[in-house]
Amino acid sequence: MPIPFTEIVNSLPATTPFVGPETLERQQGKIFRARIGANESAFGLSPAAAMAMREAVAESHLYADPENYDLRQALALKHGVHMDEICVDAGIDSLLGLTVRMLLEPGQNVVTSLGAYPTLNYHVAGFGANLVTVPYKDFHEDPEALINASAQHHAKLVYIANPDNPMGTWHTAETISQMIADVPEHCVLALDEAYTEFAENPIAPRIDTSNKNVIRFRTFSKAYGMAGQRIGYVIAHKDIITGYNKIRNHFGINRVAQKGALASVQDADFLPMVRASVSAARARVTEFAQGHSFTVVPSNTNFVAVDLGSTESATLMISELNKRQVFMRMPGVAPLNRCIRVGLGTDREFEVFTHAFNEIIKQKNFVRG
Ligand SMILES: Cc1ncc(COP(=O)(O)O)c(C=O)c1O
Repeated sequence: MPIPFTEIVNSLPATTPFVGPETLERQQGKIFRARIGANESAFGLSPAAAMAMREAVAESHLYADPENYDLRQALALKHGVHMDEICVDAGIDSLLGLTVRMLLEPGQNVVTSLGAYPTLNYHVAGFGANLVTVPYKDFHEDPEALINASAQHHAKLVYIANPDNPMGTWHTAETISQMIADVPEHCVLALDEAYTEFAENPIAPRIDTSNKNVIRFRTFSKAYGMAGQRIGYVIAHKDIITGYNKIRNHFGINRVAQKGALASVQDADFLPMVRASVSAARARVTEFAQGHSFTVVPSNTNFVAVDLGSTESATLMISELNKRQVFMRMPGVAPLNRCIRVGLGTDREFEVFTHAFNEIIKQKNFVRG
């Protein structure tokens, strides 16, 4: 008997969107010595968060607060908004899924950049909506082209990440403010600010929750070092938050994540420490790559895209690094896929990476560009 899948599920190919480092380790029978491919933080947790989380483990027999009340209250204070303008869920990835489900009917259009962070695309496919892509411009997402495509295709949702993954590039707060002002009336801007805390200078425009055309996405996975806990949030007009509350998984956030996130927000010393460590690691990777005469794409994130000149060189480098127990990824789409994406890891990971990189460069079959 055929399984009674929906038409949408029947129409989709069986895919594994993200091949995780654990999968590669199982395939290769070896553990990675440097895990610098998934934009995880190498600089750990806030000590206060670690303590709060250890305490929360002992309460694991209890469900967590489905309203995420304390955390939303702390986040509201941090961002100068009302707690009814915040929805907490299992990371930006999950919130992107809720957003598509909340805003789109099958067949309606969503605009994103070709080669941008892809999770939204899987949700768009999974809910039967339609994806329209615009190219990057000089390794940057192109706000003007995204807005023009949204108007032209009568899109209900347009996505941009600032700073961007996979390139690490960014736009100023002024440019993004202009983009927000230009969003067509029928459309909502999903502004993914997963990496905003890493920016050397603030690049997030002022938060204005009176605007129903923009949703701001934030996460504890990156600078706060809690990727494994799966917790993030959106800031938006309270009517949009009501929409999320109609469909979200109300017990989806576990107690450990909730308590850790709350302690992280309240630890004022932690983010400056992370930012300083990331800046130093960024300078070190930049110097190393430039020492090999490769172009480094300016980054405001915890990774750096290094232009190896051709897709062939980048692909070979990634595969050889993986063989040498360095987990790294590269952008999937031309022309971004001339680059490798180097995560800003620990001192030890940098040593392992540079040793492997130097060895690969010396190989006879490595051709530059
Ligand atoms: C741009 C961007 N948004 C969102 C995410 C995922 O965030 P979360 O862990 O909160 O789901 C990532 C992770 O790499 C990312 O690069």
